[in-house]
Amino acid sequence: MLLLPLMLLAAQEPILIDCDPGKFTDDNVAIAMLIRSGKFKIAGITVVAGNVWANEGLRNARATLQMMDVEDVPVHLGAQQPLRHTAEMAAKEKPLEFAGAFDLRRPRAEKETAVDFLIETLEKQPMTVLAIGPLTNIAQALQKKPSIASKIKRLVIMGGAVRVPGNSNKTAEFNFWFDPEAAKIVLESQIADKVLVGLDVCNQAVYGKPVFDAIVSGKAPFRHIFREQFGYGYPGFLKDPQAKGFLWDELAAAYLIDPSVITKSEDLPLSVDENFGERYGAVQIRPSGPLTKVMLQVDSPKATKLYSELLTR
Ligand code: RIB
Ligand code: CA
Repeated sequence: MLLLPLMLLAAQEPILIDCDPGKFTDDNVAIAMLIRSGKFKIAGITVVAGNVWANEGLRNARATLQMMDVEDVPVHLGAQQPLRHTAEMAAKEKPLEFAGAFDLRRPRAEKETAVDFLIETLEKQPMTVLAIGPLTNIAQALQKKPSIASKIKRLVIMGGAVRVPGNSNKTAEFNFWFDPEAAKIVLESQIADKVLVGLDVCNQAVYGKPVFDAIVSGKAPFRHIFREQFGYGYPGFLKDPQAKGFLWDELAAAYLIDPSVITKSEDLPLSVDENFGERYGAVQIRPSGPLTKVMLQVDSPKATKLYSELLTR
Protein backbone atom coordinates (compact mmCIF):
# COMPACT_ATOMS: atom_id res chain seq x y z
CA MET A 1 0.00 0.00 0.00
CA LEU A 2 2.73 2.42 -1.00
CA LEU A 3 0.09 4.60 -2.64
CA LEU A 4 -1.23 6.08 0.61
CA PRO A 5 2.09 7.55 1.84
CA LEU A 6 2.78 8.92 -1.64
CA MET A 7 -0.65 10.57 -1.66
CA LEU A 8 0.07 12.07 1.77
CA LEU A 9 3.46 13.30 0.59
CA ALA A 10 1.91 14.79 -2.54
CA ALA A 11 -0.64 16.66 -0.40
CA GLN A 12 2.09 18.29 1.72
CA GLU A 13 2.48 22.05 1.17
CA PRO A 14 6.10 23.12 0.59
CA ILE A 15 7.30 25.81 2.99
CA LEU A 16 10.51 27.63 3.91
CA ILE A 17 11.24 28.47 7.54
CA ASP A 18 13.44 31.44 8.53
CA CYS A 19 14.25 31.33 12.24
CA ASP A 20 16.57 32.20 15.13
CA PRO A 21 16.52 29.00 17.21
CA GLY A 22 18.04 28.90 20.68
CA LYS A 23 19.03 25.57 22.24
CA PHE A 24 15.34 24.61 22.33
CA THR A 25 13.07 27.66 22.24
CA ASP A 26 9.82 28.54 20.58
CA ASP A 27 11.49 28.42 17.16
CA ASN A 28 12.46 24.76 17.65
CA VAL A 29 9.00 23.91 18.95
CA ALA A 30 7.40 25.62 15.94
CA ILE A 31 9.56 23.50 13.62
CA ALA A 32 8.60 20.36 15.55
CA MET A 33 4.89 21.26 15.34
CA LEU A 34 5.07 21.73 11.56
CA ILE A 35 6.89 18.41 11.10
CA ARG A 36 4.54 16.52 13.42
CA SER A 37 1.45 17.99 11.72
CA GLY A 38 2.40 16.03 8.56
CA LYS A 39 0.94 18.87 6.46
CA PHE A 40 4.19 20.40 5.21
CA LYS A 41 7.27 19.53 3.21
CA ILE A 42 9.99 21.77 4.63
CA ALA A 43 11.95 22.87 1.54
CA GLY A 44 14.62 24.42 3.74
CA ILE A 45 15.48 26.24 6.94
CA THR A 46 17.42 29.50 6.94
CA VAL A 47 18.86 30.85 10.17
CA VAL A 48 19.20 34.50 11.21
CA ALA A 49 20.79 36.27 14.18
CA GLY A 50 18.23 36.99 16.88
CA ASN A 51 17.79 34.93 20.04
CA VAL A 52 21.38 33.78 19.45
CA TRP A 53 23.99 34.53 16.81
CA ALA A 54 23.28 32.78 13.51
CA ASN A 55 26.20 30.34 13.76
CA GLU A 56 24.79 28.94 17.03
CA GLY A 57 21.25 29.03 15.62
CA LEU A 58 22.44 26.91 12.69
CA ARG A 59 23.74 24.23 15.07
CA ASN A 60 20.48 24.37 17.07
CA ALA A 61 18.33 24.01 13.95
CA ARG A 62 20.33 20.98 12.80
CA ALA A 63 20.11 19.43 16.28
CA THR A 64 16.32 19.86 16.28
CA LEU A 65 15.96 18.16 12.88
CA GLN A 66 18.20 15.32 14.09
CA MET A 67 16.03 14.92 17.21
CA MET A 68 13.00 14.69 14.89
CA ASP A 69 14.76 12.11 12.66
CA VAL A 70 14.43 14.49 9.69
CA GLU A 71 17.44 14.27 7.37
CA ASP A 72 16.45 15.74 3.99
CA VAL A 73 15.97 19.39 4.98
CA PRO A 74 18.75 21.79 3.91
CA VAL A 75 19.77 24.30 6.62
CA HIS A 76 21.58 27.50 5.63
CA LEU A 77 23.48 30.15 7.58
CA GLY A 78 21.93 33.59 7.13
CA ALA A 79 22.57 37.08 8.38
CA GLN A 80 25.08 37.07 11.22
CA GLN A 81 24.10 40.58 12.22
CA PRO A 82 21.17 42.97 11.61
CA LEU A 83 21.23 45.54 8.78
CA ARG A 84 22.18 48.37 11.17
CA HIS A 85 21.42 47.57 14.85
CA THR A 86 24.48 46.61 16.92
CA ALA A 87 25.20 45.39 20.43
CA GLU A 88 26.78 48.78 21.18
CA MET A 89 23.54 50.55 20.16
CA ALA A 90 21.48 48.06 22.16
CA ALA A 91 23.58 48.67 25.28
CA LYS A 92 22.55 52.34 25.15
CA GLU A 93 18.85 51.38 24.83
CA LYS A 94 18.75 49.17 27.92
CA PRO A 95 16.11 46.77 26.43
CA LEU A 96 13.39 45.60 28.78
CA GLU A 97 14.58 42.11 29.66
CA PHE A 98 16.08 40.25 26.77
CA ALA A 99 18.59 41.52 24.18
CA GLY A 100 19.10 38.12 22.55
CA ALA A 101 22.41 37.68 20.72
CA PHE A 102 23.46 41.23 21.61
CA ASP A 103 24.23 39.88 25.09
CA LEU A 104 26.39 37.06 23.69
CA ARG A 105 29.98 37.07 22.42
CA ARG A 106 29.95 37.31 18.61
CA PRO A 107 31.58 34.32 16.91
CA ARG A 108 33.94 34.58 13.93
CA ALA A 109 32.04 35.39 10.72
CA GLU A 110 31.38 32.51 8.32
CA LYS A 111 30.12 32.33 4.73
CA GLU A 112 26.39 33.07 4.51
CA THR A 113 24.37 31.01 2.00
CA ALA A 114 20.80 31.59 3.19
CA VAL A 115 19.82 34.54 0.99
CA ASP A 116 20.94 32.85 -2.25
CA PHE A 117 19.19 29.64 -1.11
CA LEU A 118 15.93 31.54 -0.47
CA ILE A 119 16.11 33.22 -3.89
CA GLU A 120 16.99 30.03 -5.79
CA THR A 121 14.35 27.92 -4.01
CA LEU A 122 11.57 30.47 -4.52
CA GLU A 123 12.46 31.05 -8.18
CA LYS A 124 12.20 27.29 -8.74
CA GLN A 125 8.90 26.97 -6.83
CA PRO A 126 6.96 29.88 -5.27
CA MET A 127 5.84 28.90 -1.76
CA THR A 128 4.90 30.06 1.72
CA VAL A 129 7.66 31.44 3.96
CA LEU A 130 7.34 31.29 7.74
CA ALA A 131 9.54 33.98 9.33
CA ILE A 132 9.88 33.55 13.09
CA GLY A 133 13.03 35.55 13.79
CA PRO A 134 14.32 39.01 12.87
CA LEU A 135 13.61 39.71 9.17
CA THR A 136 17.20 40.33 8.04
CA ASN A 137 17.37 37.37 5.61
CA ILE A 138 14.03 38.20 4.00
CA ALA A 139 14.99 41.86 3.63
CA GLN A 140 18.36 41.00 2.11
CA ALA A 141 16.69 38.61 -0.36
CA LEU A 142 14.30 41.41 -1.41
CA GLN A 143 17.22 43.85 -1.75
CA LYS A 144 19.28 41.37 -3.81
CA LYS A 145 16.39 40.23 -6.04
CA PRO A 146 13.29 42.50 -5.73
CA SER A 147 11.33 40.21 -8.08
CA ILE A 148 11.40 37.54 -5.35
CA ALA A 149 8.48 39.42 -3.74
CA SER A 150 6.17 37.82 -6.31
CA LYS A 151 7.59 34.36 -5.59
CA ILE A 152 6.72 34.45 -1.88
CA LYS A 153 3.18 33.07 -2.05
CA ARG A 154 2.53 34.04 1.55
CA LEU A 155 4.81 35.43 4.25
CA VAL A 156 3.69 34.52 7.78
CA ILE A 157 5.66 36.64 10.24
CA MET A 158 5.93 36.20 14.00
CA GLY A 159 6.74 39.74 15.06
CA GLY A 160 5.60 43.22 15.83
CA ALA A 161 3.19 44.81 18.27
CA VAL A 162 0.59 47.06 16.61
CA ARG A 163 -1.77 48.20 19.37
CA VAL A 164 -0.10 46.59 22.42
CA PRO A 165 3.22 47.30 24.21
CA GLY A 166 6.45 45.75 23.07
CA ASN A 167 8.51 43.08 24.81
CA SER A 168 11.97 44.46 23.97
CA ASN A 169 11.30 48.13 24.62
CA LYS A 170 8.01 49.75 25.55
CA THR A 171 6.79 49.72 21.92
CA ALA A 172 8.79 47.13 19.96
CA GLU A 173 8.54 43.34 19.84
CA PHE A 174 11.91 41.49 19.89
CA ASN A 175 12.11 40.31 16.24
CA PHE A 176 11.32 43.81 14.97
CA TRP A 177 13.52 45.51 17.61
CA PHE A 178 16.53 43.35 16.79
CA ASP A 179 16.43 44.51 13.13
CA PRO A 180 14.00 47.42 12.61
CA GLU A 181 15.37 48.34 9.18
CA ALA A 182 14.75 44.79 7.91
CA ALA A 183 11.21 44.74 9.30
CA LYS A 184 10.49 48.08 7.58
CA ILE A 185 11.77 46.79 4.22
CA VAL A 186 9.63 43.64 4.47
CA LEU A 187 6.41 45.32 5.64
CA GLU A 188 6.69 47.99 2.91
CA SER A 189 7.53 45.38 0.25
CA GLN A 190 5.32 44.21 -2.62
CA ILE A 191 4.86 40.73 -1.13
CA ALA A 192 1.14 40.40 -1.78
CA ASP A 193 0.14 38.19 1.12
CA LYS A 194 1.83 39.24 4.39
CA VAL A 195 0.40 37.91 7.67
CA LEU A 196 1.52 39.34 11.02
CA VAL A 197 1.26 37.09 14.09
CA GLY A 198 2.33 39.72 16.61
CA LEU A 199 2.01 40.39 20.30
CA ASP A 200 -1.54 41.71 19.69
CA VAL A 201 -2.59 38.08 19.34
CA CYS A 202 0.27 36.18 21.04
CA ASN A 203 -0.50 37.95 24.33
CA GLN A 204 -3.87 36.11 24.26
CA ALA A 205 -2.29 32.67 23.68
CA VAL A 206 -1.19 31.87 27.23
CA TYR A 207 -0.52 28.45 28.75
CA GLY A 208 0.47 27.18 32.19
CA LYS A 209 2.28 24.32 33.91
CA PRO A 210 -0.39 21.65 33.20
CA VAL A 211 0.39 21.95 29.47
CA PHE A 212 4.15 21.87 30.22
CA ASP A 213 3.68 18.77 32.42
CA ALA A 214 1.68 16.96 29.71
CA ILE A 215 4.46 17.54 27.15
CA VAL A 216 7.25 16.55 29.56
CA SER A 217 5.42 13.32 30.48
CA GLY A 218 4.50 12.61 26.87
CA LYS A 219 6.33 10.64 24.18
CA ALA A 220 8.02 13.37 22.12
CA PRO A 221 11.75 12.76 21.46
CA PHE A 222 12.49 16.32 22.58
CA ARG A 223 10.59 16.09 25.89
CA HIS A 224 13.83 16.08 27.95
CA ILE A 225 15.36 19.21 26.40
CA PHE A 226 11.91 20.81 26.42
CA ARG A 227 11.73 20.14 30.21
CA GLU A 228 15.18 21.68 30.73
CA GLN A 229 14.68 24.76 28.54
CA PHE A 230 11.03 25.58 29.32
CA GLY A 231 11.38 24.41 32.94
CA TYR A 232 14.48 26.41 33.89
CA GLY A 233 14.64 28.93 31.00
CA TYR A 234 11.65 30.94 29.80
CA PRO A 235 8.80 30.50 31.09
CA GLY A 236 10.52 28.62 33.99
CA PHE A 237 7.76 26.23 35.09
CA LEU A 238 10.14 24.23 37.32
CA LYS A 239 11.25 27.40 39.09
CA ASP A 240 7.75 28.85 39.44
CA PRO A 241 4.74 26.50 39.08
CA GLN A 242 2.56 29.60 38.57
CA ALA A 243 4.63 30.70 35.54
CA LYS A 244 2.76 31.48 32.32
CA GLY A 245 4.09 31.09 28.78
CA PHE A 246 3.05 32.86 25.59
CA LEU A 247 2.77 31.04 22.24
CA TRP A 248 4.93 33.18 19.94
CA ASP A 249 6.54 31.22 17.07
CA GLU A 250 4.33 28.31 18.10
CA LEU A 251 1.20 30.40 17.34
CA ALA A 252 2.53 31.32 13.90
CA ALA A 253 3.07 27.59 13.26
CA ALA A 254 -0.37 26.75 14.69
CA TYR A 255 -1.93 29.29 12.30
CA LEU A 256 -0.23 27.59 9.35
CA ILE A 257 -1.44 24.19 10.55
CA ASP A 258 -5.00 25.31 11.37
CA PRO A 259 -5.90 28.89 10.32
CA SER A 260 -9.16 28.66 12.29
CA VAL A 261 -7.21 29.27 15.51
CA ILE A 262 -7.28 32.95 14.50
CA THR A 263 -10.76 34.48 14.87
CA LYS A 264 -10.18 38.11 13.84
CA SER A 265 -7.74 40.05 11.66
CA GLU A 266 -7.42 43.48 10.03
CA ASP A 267 -5.57 44.59 6.87
CA LEU A 268 -3.35 47.59 7.65
CA PRO A 269 -0.60 49.54 5.79
CA LEU A 270 2.32 49.01 8.17
CA SER A 271 5.91 50.15 8.56
CA VAL A 272 8.47 50.22 11.36
CA ASP A 273 10.19 53.11 13.16
CA GLU A 274 13.88 53.02 12.20
CA ASN A 275 14.83 56.12 14.22
CA PHE A 276 17.26 55.11 16.93
CA GLY A 277 15.58 55.87 20.23
CA GLU A 278 12.71 54.87 22.45
CA ARG A 279 10.51 53.68 19.58
CA TYR A 280 13.24 51.93 17.60
CA GLY A 281 11.53 48.89 16.02
CA ALA A 282 7.97 49.98 16.84
CA VAL A 283 5.26 49.20 14.27
CA GLN A 284 3.75 52.27 12.58
CA ILE A 285 0.37 52.37 10.80
CA ARG A 286 0.90 54.33 7.57
CA PRO A 287 -1.77 56.46 5.84
CA SER A 288 -1.50 54.15 2.84
CA GLY A 289 0.75 51.55 1.25
CA PRO A 290 1.11 47.78 0.91
CA LEU A 291 -1.18 45.96 3.35
CA THR A 292 -0.37 43.41 6.04
CA LYS A 293 -3.03 41.14 7.53
CA VAL A 294 -2.68 41.72 11.27
CA MET A 295 -3.95 38.90 13.48
CA LEU A 296 -6.01 40.36 16.31
CA GLN A 297 -7.87 37.56 18.09
CA VAL A 298 -7.08 33.91 18.77
CA ASP A 299 -9.19 31.01 19.98
CA SER A 300 -6.71 30.39 22.78
CA PRO A 301 -8.12 27.05 24.02
CA LYS A 302 -8.08 25.75 20.43
CA ALA A 303 -4.50 26.95 19.85
CA THR A 304 -3.28 25.53 23.15
CA LYS A 305 -5.03 22.20 22.46
CA LEU A 306 -3.36 21.97 19.03
CA TYR A 307 0.02 22.87 20.62
CA SER A 308 -0.39 20.28 23.35
CA GLU A 309 -1.65 17.49 21.06
CA LEU A 310 1.20 17.95 18.60
CA LEU A 311 3.83 17.90 21.34
CA THR A 312 2.62 15.17 23.70
CA ARG A 313 2.07 12.24 21.38
O1 RIB B 1 8.92 38.24 20.60
C1 RIB B 1 8.98 36.84 20.41
C2 RIB B 1 9.99 36.48 19.36
O2 RIB B 1 11.30 36.81 19.79
C3 RIB B 1 10.03 34.96 19.07
O3 RIB B 1 10.31 34.76 17.71
C4 RIB B 1 11.17 34.47 19.92
O4 RIB B 1 11.81 33.32 19.37
C5 RIB B 1 12.12 35.63 19.86
O5 RIB B 1 12.87 35.50 18.66
CA1 CA C 1 12.07 33.26 17.05
